[in-house]
Amino acid sequence: MSVTVRTLQQCKNEGRKFSVLTAYDATFAHQISSAGVDAILVGDSLGMVVQGHDSTLPVTVDDIVYHTACVARGNQGALIIADVPFLAAATLDRALDCSLKLMQAGANVVKIEGAGWLADTVQVLKRNGVPTCVHMGLTPQSVNAFGGYRVQGREQSQADQMIADAQALEAAGADMLLLECVPREVSKQLTAAVGIPVIGIGAAPECDGQVLVIQDVLGITAGKTARFVKNFMAAANGDIAAAIKAYDSAVKDGSFPAAEHCF
Ligand code: KIV
Ligand code: NA
Repeated sequence: MSVTVRTLQQCKNEGRKFSVLTAYDATFAHQISSAGVDAILVGDSLGMVVQGHDSTLPVTVDDIVYHTACVARGNQGALIIADVPFLAAATLDRALDCSLKLMQAGANVVKIEGAGWLADTVQVLKRNGVPTCVHMGLTPQSVNAFGGYRVQGREQSQADQMIADAQALEAAGADMLLLECVPREVSKQLTAAVGIPVIGIGAAPECDGQVLVIQDVLGITAGKTARFVKNFMAAANGDIAAAIKAYDSAVKDGSFPAAEHCF
């Protein structure tokens, strides 16, 4: 049975955690969905882990379309969330055009980086049958504006704004939110303040779901990894399917993320 936005909403309603992993090709989409992971994110992290760039900014709509189509062919029933790349939702027309391409390639949900100002975009997409996930907190496409990859929401005023924005996005019709690198306490409050599912990465175990980049889970990422990463291959004896299942179980039993993975 396929996972839908309703499945994730039911998880939130019933207090069950759900798992998400990135994939960029059919082989990994097959492995991840067969392991019971609920959703696959075709992230613009592919700019770094697939294309070798040092940020996500060079990734194009056509790149995400190509990888979404690859993932969709290997997928065994997971919900497919596809990233809207840098500036592809800067105007409503662009957001609609990008969403058209991603949905036709096989996405079930589009993920857009931003905050409360995306409410109008979310509302128009919703009206046209496109479910959205708004990626808040550390939005890597804004690395130049932030002056580096930094935890967001440490100041009370910033945290209050983030929670108000989350509520505005829910009211506008967002189907889910994703929080990256936001202090645990703020992430916990925000997750409790909205009725829609909240996916965390470097956020909190109290979020409704968790996501990681597959290369990080398998311990094959080149260079230094972030604090929120856990290598699940270390205890899996080189067995990729076992590592993915260990991640899925750890998310669902609440043992990942631990305090050491949070800010
Ligand atoms: O592109 C990506 O993989 C992401 C996740 C890290 C949340 O946006
Ligand atoms: Na992304």
